[in-house]
Amino acid sequence: MNKFIKDQISQLKPSATLAINEDSNRLKKSGKKIYKFGFGQSPFPVPELVVNALKTNASKHTYLPMQGLEELRLAIADHLNKINNNNFNKEDIIIGPGTKELMFLMQIAFKGEVVLPAPSWVSYQPQALIAKNKVHWIQTTSNSNWFPTAESLENKIKNIKEKNLLLFINSPNNPAGTVCKNLEEIAKIAKKYRLTILSDEIYSHLTFDDQYKSISNYYPEGTIVSSGLSKWCGAGGWRLGFFAIPNQLKEFKESLKILCSESFTSVSAPIQYAAIEAYRNDHSDYLSDVKKILSFTGKYVYENLKSNLINIAKPEGGFYLFPEFTNAKFSSASEMCKDILQKTGVALLPGSDFGLDSKKMIARLSYTDFDGSSFLKSTSGSKKLDNADLKKNAPNIVDGVFALKEWSNSL
Ligand SMILES: Cc1ncc(COP(=O)(O)O)c(C=O)c1O
Repeated sequence: MNKFIKDQISQLKPSATLAINEDSNRLKKSGKKIYKFGFGQSPFPVPELVVNALKTNASKHTYLPMQGLEELRLAIADHLNKINNNNFNKEDIIIGPGTKELMFLMQIAFKGEVVLPAPSWVSYQPQALIAKNKVHWIQTTSNSNWFPTAESLENKIKNIKEKNLLLFINSPNNPAGTVCKNLEEIAKIAKKYRLTILSDEIYSHLTFDDQYKSISNYYPEGTIVSSGLSKWCGAGGWRLGFFAIPNQLKEFKESLKILCSESFTSVSAPIQYAAIEAYRNDHSDYLSDVKKILSFTGKYVYENLKSNLINIAKPEGGFYLFPEFTNAKFSSASEMCKDILQKTGVALLPGSDFGLDSKKMIARLSYTDFDGSSFLKSTSGSKKLDNADLKKNAPNIVDGVFALKEWSNSL
């Protein structure tokens, strides 16, 4: 126990991600070819129109309103109302430096307990721990597409004394790349028990079948929609995200605004002006090219890995897959990932980083180890992709998947 560090902070452990990165760098230095399948970043460039808007606004230098630029909030509210059929207005939107920061402040403000599906994105739980919010996990399986069933949610809620609960739903999800098919049933339970839902829609524009559904449609009064530029717009490093908070949660929004003003003040001015163009304009050509590449690549990896030794759910959105190596026998998923890295150079993240039992031989695979700019350039428009395109534009995907399959066969 360190007298300068709060108990809940000293409990935090460096994630296995860090260990995999360190091992990858060491192996790379020694000359081994590394396949970066552990990385969760869009490989695509920011659309040119949005980059140009950033250039035009580079001289904007003042602090902006703490809730975010009015024009940007209006553009985001209109955008959500159009794509999700929501009913937000500009006062419901808060702009933050990435959704991660907004989620963190939300955990600080929230009085109650947190319900997380396992697997879930790596930061939800540590943020809850920092804010001293108790976490309840709902274990899910590939049989329910890695989302909770209504029944498992209701059973979990019945066993929790605290009645003020915050449930995270992330569809398409990180780490499995699957889409939630039972949003309506989950929403019904959430309504019945008056849960608050944080709908993490950071991958919504990367849904492959173009039929995106938001849980906010079924439970608008209790759902906070969270999204931003990081994934669909290839702009993770720009740090711009937002929350859309329904009027019924107005008091919560006011508290969050105070936390924003007492922490990051306001998001960088040029980025907010550029984001107006990201949300005001139609990017369907760019998105359809990006999704064509991601869905083809995801399908290739899925079809080449899927076997009687590897269980894997079909890719439906985002850029992840969550293979289970059924014949692997290691003391933990982390040990398995170390072995894979050593023997094949393929870097994966253990499923235990996402809240799964460490004995489950499951790992997250991100299929983004390619140059998105040149892939887009050579395949944009109506051209259908084939394996030759993948070999030319994403050779690391082809070679890494082959190495992984060989590793699995050799067990
Ligand atoms: C599921 C999920 N939610 C949220 C985030 C954070 O995104 P942002 O860049 O908006 O902070 C990520 C980023 O990896 C993510 O995968």
